[in-house]
Parts: sequence; structure tokens; C-alpha cells
Amino acid sequence: MSEYKVSKGYRDFRKYVNAGLVTLCELSSEPYKVIRAQDGALIDEEGKRLHDFLAGWGTQGLGHLNSAVRQALRDYLDTEIPAFFTSAVSPMAGLLAAKLCERTKHYDHCWFASGGSEVVEAALKLARAATKRTRILSLRGAYHGCTMGSLALMEPGPFKDAFGPHLPEVQALPWGCIDSLKAALSNKDVAAIFVESVQIEGGVRWLTSEYVEALGRLTDEMGTVLVADEIQTGFGRMGYFLHSETWPRRPDIVVMGKTLGGGYMPLSAMVTKSELFARAYSHPLDVESHNSTFSGNSLACVAGMAALDLLTDELLEGARDKGAFFLDCLKREIGDHEFVKEIRSEGLLFGIELVNPEHPYYSFEYLGLEDMKAVSALGFLLTHRLFKDGYLVNVCGHRWDVLRIHPALDVTREQLEDFARCCRRQLDHLLSLT
Ligand SMILES: Cc1ncc(COP(=O)(O)O)c(C=O)c1O
Repeated sequence: MSEYKVSKGYRDFRKYVNAGLVTLCELSSEPYKVIRAQDGALIDEEGKRLHDFLAGWGTQGLGHLNSAVRQALRDYLDTEIPAFFTSAVSPMAGLLAAKLCERTKHYDHCWFASGGSEVVEAALKLARAATKRTRILSLRGAYHGCTMGSLALMEPGPFKDAFGPHLPEVQALPWGCIDSLKAALSNKDVAAIFVESVQIEGGVRWLTSEYVEALGRLTDEMGTVLVADEIQTGFGRMGYFLHSETWPRRPDIVVMGKTLGGGYMPLSAMVTKSELFARAYSHPLDVESHNSTFSGNSLACVAGMAALDLLTDELLEGARDKGAFFLDCLKREIGDHEFVKEIRSEGLLFGIELVNPEHPYYSFEYLGLEDMKAVSALGFLLTHRLFKDGYLVNVCGHRWDVLRIHPALDVTREQLEDFARCCRRQLDHLLSLT
């Protein structure tokens, strides 16, 4: 198949990279030993076909090994255009930035990096430098990445607690509370507020339209930079190019990542207006004061341009249609199930909130983890059962009682229908244990 010894690579990962992570996959029986992708599905060492209903944690929205992105990369490698431009003035970044700004129909400035956390950092720095203010706000339940700046915005818990002290002058506001927002902004001393249009790690939950309206109005009145983290919700996931297109006031900065790299290349972007950028970085001595060596590297930009070409209006409409179809399937199959509290969705993003059953079979204590007895294990048990049926899903990082589901945008109706049926069968199985 190829000269890469993938199976050996899994053993080497355990030995040289992170043994604990491998053990965790084995405990949850996650079929992680994938050796190839075929027709959008993943095939593991035993030949089992797996449907990735997380779309590679959001990176594979255009499907694993997308053939058009692969061809674009091959074509570029056959040219003699450099892979890296020594002046850091990258024409490939220029071409991608023009295409991306045009697509947003609003922004006219981009800065590129590799991962999502890096563009969150870039937005933090831009907001402080442009406003000359230091206070930063986020919302409870947030996930904006694991670098020290983005971590300061994070919900407390295992991702955050061991790494303090955190960036000072950062405050997390209660979720969806307009009065707290008003009070926090009232002194006109807040540089920026960071929000996820829908919190995925926080439990696949939406801000109300009243809150989003207040957010746009109050930040505008108080001179606070409004930053939308669309690293998960952008790039077609919710049936729009950016979910914040639907807000009454467009955010001042949007950060994106994941599928922007076409599923092959690490690529993230901060998009904003050039006036805001110029407020921070216009003096010749400032123009490179925020930078990163690989920002705008050629192959990432080529993948980004190919990915943008694929994200047609038809694909976005398809995401909305298939999302409505999947919601019907889920409601029909599990809407009335004793273990299901609520199904939430928009476009092809779904959250299934589970109840917290009293019976010890569904607790981590029963699984030998005494110190976790307050946390329901039902979500993990359900993902474990769905793995057996060949579906890759997971619980939310901060809310283990909510299943997150976000398949690739080219998922078929048959797969969506089959997933809903499997979900019913596995929930019934778990219910029958007591
Ligand atoms: C909403 C959100 N913001 C930021 C990040 C951080 O992105 P990365 O892991 O690429 O640094 C993530 C990662 O999943 C995310 O979901």
C-alpha cells in the first residue's frame, strides 16, 4: 500500500509520544488503529469500516482524503513556486486572503497560522494593542484552545487547572446573562470579548438571539472588540459559511481553522477589518510585531484555496437540508427515549443531551473510578456501543452528558438514518442492563 508502516507507527506512538492517550483509547474501546481511508470511510487494522461522525474533530468537513484538495496539492508540488518565501511576504497568503475575504462578504484583512489556538492568541493581542485596554472577557463553558492565552479564556477543569497562574485581567461571564454582560462592559475598559457562536465543548449550546443582539449592540457602544470563535462552527458546519453571518452585527474579528486546511494541512485564519488591524500594527516597527514562521506557508494556502472552492452554496444548502432530515430521524428514533433529555441542532451540528440515571451501572464509580462518582458515565457507555456499530462520536469536553455529532458535509442520508437507528438500538441495550 505504501512505504509507511502505519501499524508500527501506532506502537511507536505509545512508546515515544503519549502512552496514556493510547491506554485511554483502549479503555473506551475506541477503534483508533485506522490504516486507510476509502470513499470517505476509515478502515482499521481489522478491516472494519468506520463512519467518522466527528469529521476528524472538525478537520475533515470535506471528507477524509478529499480528492480535489489532494490534486491541488499535487499540482502545486509539480510547479517551481517556492514552498516558503523568505521575506515572509507570501503571495500564496495574498491569494488565499483575497479569496477568503471575498467569501466572508464583510472582512478585508486576514492573518494566517496553523492551529486554532494561535489565531485566538493573535486576536487577543490585536484587541489589546488596538484598544490600548487590558481587560478580556469570555463566557463560562468556553473552549478556545490550549496555549496560555487561549487557556485563560477556558472553563475551569482538567484542561486548565494545572497550568495557573493564568493571564491576568481575564473574566468569564455567566452563560447567556445580559445583565452581567452590561455590567462587565460598563466602564468602557474591556479590550475584547470572545464568544463561540455555539459552544460545542460546553455542551452544544446556543446563545439566545436576545443575547447575540445585546452582544453586538453593547460591544459597539462600549468600544469593545467582539471576537467570534468559529473554529468549529465556521466553514459550512451550520449551513452557512460563517455562523456569525446570521448575527445582527457582524463580529469585529472571526477566527477559523479545522476544515479550512482541506483536511490535509494545518491552517487557521483570523479575519477582520483593515482599520482595526491598522490601529495596532501600522508603524513600520510594529508591522511584524505579531508573527509566526509558518504563517502563510504555500502548501497550507493551496489547500485552503482548494477547500474554499469546494465549499459551494449547494454544499451549504445540502448541509441545511441533510441537517433537517437527520433531526427528523433522531426525533423519530430516540426523541422519546427514557435516556434522552434533549436533541439540539443546526445545520450538521448535533448535540444529544442524556439524562443522568440514578442506577450505579451508569456511574464511573461502578467502573472503578470512585473519585468520579458524581459524573454520569452514560455518554461514554453510549459512545463505546456506537464504536461497535462503526460510528465515531464523542462526548463534549466540558459536558460528558452531551454527545456531540458533526459528520462531514458529504455524509449521505442513508448513513444519517442508519446512525439514528443504531443510536436507538444501543440506548435500548443500555437501558436493558438494569
Ligand atoms: C472553538 C474552538 N476554539 C479553539 C480551538 C483550538 O484549536 P486548535 O486545537 O487547533 O489549537 C478549538 C479546538 O478544538 C475549538 O473547538
